[in-house]
Amino acid sequence: MAYQKLTTQSDLPAPGEAKEFECAGKTLCVANVNGTITAIENVCLHMGGRLGQGYIEDGKIVCPWHGWEYDSQTGALEGDPKSKLDVYPIKVENGEVMVDV
Ligand code: FES
Repeated sequence: MAYQKLTTQSDLPAPGEAKEFECAGKTLCVANVNGTITAIENVCLHMGGRLGQGYIEDGKIVCPWHGWEYDSQTGALEGDPKSKLDVYPIKVENGEVMVDV
């Protein structure tokens, strides 16, 4: 796949926040953990909670429904690292945020 524009840098979540974005027919969860921007699948493996509507705690993305936690860089579920969400490469170039979905 190739990188495509997701949003502008100014629209990214602030440190300690997550946010949902639409791209290429998918909804992504973009997280800002201590200034590191990552993009992962938006749908929780438990019951489909939307991670982009969750929050960041101790460096993890926390599902807003029942609190399952995911590593923002690997997509791995806390306590069961073999269970993973897809992670999408993301980069910022000249104020534009590009993602490879
Ligand atoms: S749906 Fe995410 S923790 Fe239940």
